[in-house]
Amino acid sequence: MRINNIVENILKEVSEEPEAEAKLIIETLSGQTLSQMITDNKVNNEEEIIQAAKKRAETKKPIQQILGCAYFMGEKFKVNEHVLIPRDETEILVRETVNIAKKLNNPQILEIGAGSGCVSCMISKLLENKPLQILGVDISTNALKVSLDNMAKYVEANRLVIRKSDVFSNVKEKFDIILSNPPYIKEGEKLQKELEFEPKEALFAKDDGYYFYKKIIDEAPTHLNKGGYILFELGINQADTVKSMLEKEFHDIEITKDLSGIKRVIKAKL
Ligand SMILES: C[S@@+](CC[C@H](N)C(=O)[O-])C[C@H]1O[C@@H](n2cnc3c(N)ncnc32)[C@H](O)[C@@H]1O
Repeated sequence: MRINNIVENILKEVSEEPEAEAKLIIETLSGQTLSQMITDNKVNNEEEIIQAAKKRAETKKPIQQILGCAYFMGEKFKVNEHVLIPRDETEILVRETVNIAKKLNNPQILEIGAGSGCVSCMISKLLENKPLQILGVDISTNALKVSLDNMAKYVEANRLVIRKSDVFSNVKEKFDIILSNPPYIKEGEKLQKELEFEPKEALFAKDDGYYFYKKIIDEAPTHLNKGGYILFELGINQADTVKSMLEKEFHDIEITKDLSGIKRVIKAKL
């Protein structure tokens, strides 16, 4: 039996996407693509691959935590139990920010809740020929350690700085863009099994999930330059409430939907 079939069989009880997960495990641990294996007629680290699949089946932990890495926008990022595993839909927040930043001269950017650092790293990478400065803040010291490792791989040291801060508590500077994919799940909401392994402070927010939107929107005007932008990733059905919070001080509000038609990113101008 081929290695991908063996791994898929181990995963089929635990995973909703056994084929995709098998591919991730095999390619990460063998260093080969599935088609390369056929050409090479051998699989590197076969035993390690099978052990990782078994660990996934036994513990039900997300495969990215077992492997210690996740892919975001085609790039590999370090992850562990202290950071949110990057989600595909967060690419929209990155792309919307990049589209705004492209038009600005030496933009100063703040990311609140940087976590693994994948969002800030990708913004910097997609704008690699443009002078800019990004400050990423997070309340979690353990998450900051992960983001430092990811930054070292993707960003020149003078472009991205990471700092511990409870939202704006340790931020005195002004910015052209403030963005956040904040914790937005209502406290007490029942989670899918895999989310149970992710850090609670990355997921849940008080005030029915709106605590960070409200706090950031209230305090952002003092941290934004005139005409500055604010962008958020949104949870399902949160767009209307966040839009009305923004309408008090911000204008040119626009919402972008994800591939499932969910209103996923909101942006506005001061
Ligand atoms: C949903 S995760 C986003 C992580 C990453 N930016 C991403 O999009 O994959 C939210 C992040 O906010 C951080 N966080 C939670 N409370 C915070 C606070 N009071 N101040 C700053 N960051 C906070 C969490 O530690 C977590 O890393």
